Amino acid sequence: MGFNLQERIPGFKTGRGKDAVDYALRHNLDEDIFLYTKAQPNVLVELKGRDINLATTSPKYKSTVKQLKRYLLAPNCKTVQWGIITNSKHIQLFRKHGKAIYPATPCIEISFDNVVEITYQIRKKIENTPKALTVALYNNKGGVGKTTTVINLAAVLAGHNKRVLVVDFDPNQKDLTNSLDIKPGKQSLYDCLKDKQDTISFKEVISPYTKEFRSGVSLSFDVIPVDDKLAQIHEDDLRKEFSFYSFRKKLDSLKYDYDYILIDAPPNWRFFSINAIYASDVVLIPTKHNNIFSLQNAAITIQKYIPEIQKIRQKKTNGIEWGASALPIFFNGEKIVNAARVNAKNAINAIIKQSYKKYKFDLIPYFYPRYKPGNNTRIFELPSNAHIAYAAFEKIPAAYKNKIVCSYYTELAKEYFLQ
Ligand SMILES: Nc1ncnc2c1ncn2[C@@H]1O[C@H](COP(=O)(O)OP(=O)(O)O)[C@@H](O)[C@H]1O
Ligand SMILES: [Mg+2]
Repeated sequence: MGFNLQERIPGFKTGRGKDAVDYALRHNLDEDIFLYTKAQPNVLVELKGRDINLATTSPKYKSTVKQLKRYLLAPNCKTVQWGIITNSKHIQLFRKHGKAIYPATPCIEISFDNVVEITYQIRKKIENTPKALTVALYNNKGGVGKTTTVINLAAVLAGHNKRVLVVDFDPNQKDLTNSLDIKPGKQSLYDCLKDKQDTISFKEVISPYTKEFRSGVSLSFDVIPVDDKLAQIHEDDLRKEFSFYSFRKKLDSLKYDYDYILIDAPPNWRFFSINAIYASDVVLIPTKHNNIFSLQNAAITIQKYIPEIQKIRQKKTNGIEWGASALPIFFNGEKIVNAARVNAKNAINAIIKQSYKKYKFDLIPYFYPRYKPGNNTRIFELPSNAHIAYAAFEKIPAAYKNKIVCSYYTELAKEYFLQ
């Protein structure tokens, strides 16, 4: 992987109990020799013996991934950006961005023929770590809070000194662009996507959003506003004109400039949503506890749509890239009394059971991320708030108008993204 003897520490203490990961790696910086300073690791490697089965269907695979995730989130590993599990028969690379951890490659079977290529590809990824985490907000049901979440999450992340870009990728609604009153950029998204030779800089489609506070502080994030031209094109023609990875390719050029790229997707599994998810690292799915369709649609997204995109991404990259991963769902925008919470959990349990029976797909981690046998079925809840509901009329993110709303979205950011 290109790390010399002074750039790796065996049995690195993660800072959580007695936990030690097999190897921590980091390139040396002038005087700062990793072996001696033991500070700011970049990669963790968990090694297993060849006799341990790490194929994705094995129980040992599941427990090893869990172990790696625990190490990645431990106190001494805050600076870590990558994690590897391998038993020299299989290998898988994971990316860590703040709190978000997701597969960067499939779990690849190593053979005599592919070992050089795989090592090269993993090394290349680690040496060119993009700064941004790309997040698509999606649910096949409308009105669940996708646009609202994108706007306020961007607002609070900007407040945490993160560079944020949001993309309005719902040209039929234009809700995001309209509710922040964003003016078009110098170039249109349509022209830019058409421009196969990259003669137009993708940066020219961006418009800034800035809020000046009375205290003199100002906060800002960037927006790719909706493009009317794109809205007028029929679905069939969109598919003919644009390969659905062209948007991802364009976004790639911005992944070293931002900490977060948030994409607001429309509520149907068509061109824009497919493009948004193909372009993203993780998918965040708002749901409503009192709307069975939003829960069922979340399940379909997780067990059907996202795996479809993963398959295409793997095919397109010779089995090197994994594609987008779903984050656990959250409940958005309703006051929840206990009886309703019980009803929602019953509905979810039925969905989980059916999905396992029918597709052998385990939805538990996506509905109950902290689940332990017998308990902990907590789902993150973003409460309802009148300031959120009226914010669109005021053309400013509710999180910038109201302290309570700001605290709600800060909690959301901490739940999923900020470490
Ligand atoms: N937490 C919340 N509290 C109150 N109103 C909310 C909340 N989240 C969303 N809303 C409102 O619900 C409506 C639908 O939200 P929106 O973000 O447009 O959904 P989507 O993008 O999924 O269609 C909007 O009027 C929005 O203001
Ligand atoms: Mg919307």
